Amino acid sequence: MSFECVRIDGQIKLVSICLNYAQEVFDTFDKDIIEFLPLDEPPQNIDETISFINSSMEQGRKGTDYVWTILHNEEFAGCCGIHSIQTKQPHFGLWIRKEMQGKGLGKKVVHHMLAWGIENLDVEYIKYPVDNRNKRSTQLIRDLGLSIHDTYEIGTGKKLQVDEYRYYKSKSSSSMKQNKDR
Ligand SMILES: CC(C)(COP(=O)(O)OP(=O)(O)OC[C@H]1O[C@@H](n2cnc3c(N)ncnc32)[C@H](O)[C@@H]1OP(=O)(O)O)[C@@H](O)C(=O)NCCC(=O)NCCS
Repeated sequence: MSFECVRIDGQIKLVSICLNYAQEVFDTFDKDIIEFLPLDEPPQNIDETISFINSSMEQGRKGTDYVWTILHNEEFAGCCGIHSIQTKQPHFGLWIRKEMQGKGLGKKVVHHMLAWGIENLDVEYIKYPVDNRNKRSTQLIRDLGLSIHDTYEIGTGKKLQVDEYRYYKSKSSSSMKQNKDR
């Protein structure tokens, strides 16, 4: 399985993050984007973005985290990643740059990548943690019929109230797990 390039459809593809996109990531990952992300401030200078990309590339080489840039007709549209793969219960996250939000990109990426991850990685399930005020993010997974398996607060400065949805290999294993949890 190669994770370097994942084709979502004729217009959207994911490519493993690299320094070529440092400027675009820095320019678009701003205060509004991080409103519901576990980060108090966006990077203050491009060096912070470069460090993030370098460490993401290193994690990719080690196989612990896969981080991609999202391209729409070859244009930079955002980033997504599957993190802590070695735990067997990794989590998925994404952001779409403001100008490209509301066009269906986020939904296509989440739907494709949760299925891709469960198919291609040796994991039990994939978490989709979302702050319970982040309606747009919750909306992305509504059609998948996922359930909340855990709720918790994260953050020291900014606090997030996280609902943890989980994507299992099949709907049946998801509901089996839910029943076991009860
Ligand atoms: C959450 C996010 C990824 C959504 O991406 P997106 O590409 O804008 O979403 P889509 O265009 O695929 O829209 C998905 C759904 O949200 C709805 N939606 C989109 N923009 C909306 C808006 N401004 N207000 C309300 N609903 C909206 C759409 O109608 C769609 O629902 P539908 O399929 O039932 O019609 C994007 O808003 C984002 O990057 N936010 C900041 C980072 C973030 O919160 N990431 C998620 C962390 S869990």
